[in-house]
Amino acid sequence: MSVSFTRRTALKGAAGAIALTGAGGAELAAAAPATARTLASPAAAGLLAAAGRKAPGNRRFEGKISALLKQMTVEEKLGQLQMRGGWEAGMDAEARAGRLGAILGSDSAAAINTLQRAALESRLGIPLIFGLDVIHGFLTTFPIPLAQGSSFDTRVALTDATVGAREAAASGIRWTFAPMVDVSHEPRWGRIAECYGEDPYMNAVFGVAKVRGYQGDDYGAPDRLAACAKHYAAYGQPEGGRDYNTVDVSEQRLRNMYLPSYMACVYAGCATVMAAFNTISGVPAHANVHTLTEILKQEWGFDGFVVSDYTGVQELIPHGIAADGKDAARLSLNAGVDQEMVSTNFLTYGAELLAEGKLSMERLDDAVRRILRVKFAAGLFDRPLVDESAELTAPSAADRARARNVAARSMVLLRNEGGALPLAKTVSSIAVVGPLGNDTQNLHGSWATVKGSQIPAVSIVDGIKAAVPGANVTFTAGSTVTGDDTSGFGAAQDAARAADVTVVVVGETADLSGEASSRSDIGLPGVQAGLVRAIAETGRPFVVVLINGRPLTIADWHELAPAILEAWDPGIEGGNAVADVLFGAVNPGGKLPVSFPRTVGQIPIYYNHENTGRPFDPNSKWTSKYLDLPNGPLYEFGFGLSYTTFTVSAPTLSTSSLSASALQGGARVQVSVQVTNTGSQAGDEVVQIYVHDPVASIVQPVKRLRAFRRVTLAAGASTTVRFRLGAEDLGYWTNDYGGEFVLEPGEFHIYAGNTSSTESVATLTVT
Ligand code: BGC
Repeated sequence: MSVSFTRRTALKGAAGAIALTGAGGAELAAAAPATARTLASPAAAGLLAAAGRKAPGNRRFEGKISALLKQMTVEEKLGQLQMRGGWEAGMDAEARAGRLGAILGSDSAAAINTLQRAALESRLGIPLIFGLDVIHGFLTTFPIPLAQGSSFDTRVALTDATVGAREAAASGIRWTFAPMVDVSHEPRWGRIAECYGEDPYMNAVFGVAKVRGYQGDDYGAPDRLAACAKHYAAYGQPEGGRDYNTVDVSEQRLRNMYLPSYMACVYAGCATVMAAFNTISGVPAHANVHTLTEILKQEWGFDGFVVSDYTGVQELIPHGIAADGKDAARLSLNAGVDQEMVSTNFLTYGAELLAEGKLSMERLDDAVRRILRVKFAAGLFDRPLVDESAELTAPSAADRARARNVAARSMVLLRNEGGALPLAKTVSSIAVVGPLGNDTQNLHGSWATVKGSQIPAVSIVDGIKAAVPGANVTFTAGSTVTGDDTSGFGAAQDAARAADVTVVVVGETADLSGEASSRSDIGLPGVQAGLVRAIAETGRPFVVVLINGRPLTIADWHELAPAILEAWDPGIEGGNAVADVLFGAVNPGGKLPVSFPRTVGQIPIYYNHENTGRPFDPNSKWTSKYLDLPNGPLYEFGFGLSYTTFTVSAPTLSTSSLSASALQGGARVQVSVQVTNTGSQAGDEVVQIYVHDPVASIVQPVKRLRAFRRVTLAAGASTTVRFRLGAEDLGYWTNDYGGEFVLEPGEFHIYAGNTSSTESVATLTVT
């Protein structure tokens, strides 16, 4: 018999007893606002929801909101539901008329104050809220989120969000459209750059770190922003990897794979949630009663507001669910979207819908109340204007140092044959080859802000020059990123022949990942693979640095390269951070948060897949496999090398058996793992804990990451890393539409290691 945690059954002591687990947990515990410390555990959020516990919410301003609601006309109410672009003409008049609630995309204090003054002149003087995509920095561009996931260190995301919030808030921005926590198994999808990879736990812990970094204890503070978990829900799994495309998922897949990250953000107090462009099992996310109202608002108790994505309400028409704009407004508002971004159907048709009884005043008031709740909490009523004289115009040296540190921590050493890396600082000549070697733009990544991307990033060639000032450092492009001209290969080879070592910098331009940037072929674009081959042909020592926003297929050339450093889109200090790793000032310790397929034909490929009834068997034809490829990826989730070596012991458990009811009451099993630096220099290792339930009522993934910790160890040093796993780590959500979380007795396999392919396992019996 299983123990069922339906949201209708209270789970004894859940809120109090659940401690933070894993690295995400330990690090986040320190950063968490005291009041949120137990509630906000990314892992515990699921259990709290299962037990019917609601997200913390914010009810400090209900009296003031009620007083305002009483005075508001229908048009003024609908005005709060409208967000328009700051670049659109006539927004000051709209604000003055009370027909505007929010502004997207303004990034200067003067522009923001101008519009805000107009809103303050409206009949009720309700301030606007200014939102912007501060995704991986505002002035100081940090590495893209996928890179940050590679750090397996949530402090990285906390730092990025803290700096981004401070810089953006100084310009009058009060709300960011981040974190993006869409689990994705689709490397063709360009927006994989914006998430934390293919695992729900990773997206949950990094999402929560971002929420904390943006919002702090109180997003009403002058250096904080309201956060927005997006894109709700399951946006990361578009068919064919094409952006905006169809998503069709079972309820259990939705709840186990896609929802936990949003849930964790909501339980961490995330102020707002953005609906996604995709359909979810036939119903567009913008008209989805089940995800928006039943789950988000009712089950989880989310009391902030749901914003549409850019014209997402209007898009219900081409989706094929709304006949016209009025229909779109009816469906979307009634499903639970509270504010419309850019398109104007709520404002245009809301009054008619009310008059016709197709929208209730109760629902309209609820939407307005949610928006005002966030505006009050953001301190907009007390502090509507920003001090223009305090606006920041450039990154500080301290923030640049943070960005450099974060970028270096986020790099993954994929290959290092014969200790090709680190490079000796005594080297006398270095050829930097490849079209991204002197780049100062693309290193910023796909979601750099306008202001951030106007500041040139430190190029890799400049970073190398600064690291080895005594060396002769040359730059030769060899090719462009996407073109087919190979006439530069000869010059690149000459440069390689003339140098002690060559650093080949290849990859994607920033606009090849991000929104609306799906690719069907995710190899190196253009002739860059040929350029790598051309350098290999010289027979001279070389290493490859990859700059990219998604996993790439590199099987066709990776064995030619003595070393490959995955640097992702590393941000403003990218060149310095790459040099830090190349020359060993930083020993790389990142791990892949996403699988690198061998070819696109393997997609979707992800470590947390289910087993088939015919698992791969090399001796049998009739098993699940390809005739022309191994099943596994080229580089798996959790994989990454170091300049030193580590051993990770088998896991030992504090008990071999626990009852389901004890676990339900908050009991936990402690998992201890000994990690030893067996090499000759200090370095970082990421200890990873996976669970598997081999016999369950619903087929379970072969492994699920449930905890990790990145540790730094001196050469020869050893430490014991301890984790605590509880019901939330072992149970799963069923297909029950109403939300049922079960923990089924039986054996559980608990794996420990430094990559997802670990076979080092201990067994826990749940009775
Ligand atoms: C994107 C969102 C973004 C919004 C506002 C949309 O196109 O999907 O992620 O927040 O634009 O810039």
